[in-house]
Amino acid sequence: MGFFGSVGGRVVGAPSILAADFANLAEEVRRVRDGGAELVHFDVMDNHFVPNLTVGPAVAAALVESTDLPVDAHLQVMRPDSLIPAFVEAGVASIQVQPEVTLHLHRTLEAIKNAGLEAGCALNPTTSPSVLEYAWPYLDYVNVMSVNPGFGGQAFIPEMTEKVRRLRELTDLPIQVDGGITAETAPLMVAAGARVLVAGSAVFRGDRAAEMRKIVEAGEGALGDA
Ligand code: DX5
Ligand code: ZN
Repeated sequence: MGFFGSVGGRVVGAPSILAADFANLAEEVRRVRDGGAELVHFDVMDNHFVPNLTVGPAVAAALVESTDLPVDAHLQVMRPDSLIPAFVEAGVASIQVQPEVTLHLHRTLEAIKNAGLEAGCALNPTTSPSVLEYAWPYLDYVNVMSVNPGFGGQAFIPEMTEKVRRLRELTDLPIQVDGGITAETAPLMVAAGARVLVAGSAVFRGDRAAEMRKIVEAGEGALGDA
């Protein structure tokens, strides 16, 4: 079973290495692992879909080699299809794409799954969950972006709790949330139905292990409200 298939009702911490020290990635991941991180969130940006430019398959492959945690690639790029084989080769465990720019979503999700990886969709803040109506059979998880993709450290968009709630009505698949997740916003998202908490700046601007643990525990505290 893949990582997302095993999430169940748990709250999972997924540090976004976008905010980490890129010169010391392996050590950064060791630190968040000590804080209970279970999944590494790897943001790929192409300066077209988003203004920012980050890292690609070569860095993903090095990271996969350096850790036993699964690596989840979030492709914030205009043409995800041409990158999928290289990320499969890099050894990532899952790949998520943005349906806003994925012309043939069925084909793309099938390409990810046929390679033995888990497949996800990340939805921009104003993208409706309804775009997934016919995609559910090919998905293993969904990511609700709670900021506009492109940069770490942006303010959480509070209306996204409602979107998580709506998605919870539509699917039992794990809901990931990404953007502005802190010990304050994590409980709101977990209460709404999210289980996988992506956090970048809230983790890597302080004591990595302690901040990771704080966010997961804050989320777990809201499980009763879910
Ligand atoms: C934004 C990325 C996020 C980013 C979140 O485009 O998808 O994963 O790292 O950063 P924070 O947690 O700082 O909002
Ligand atoms: Zn991301």
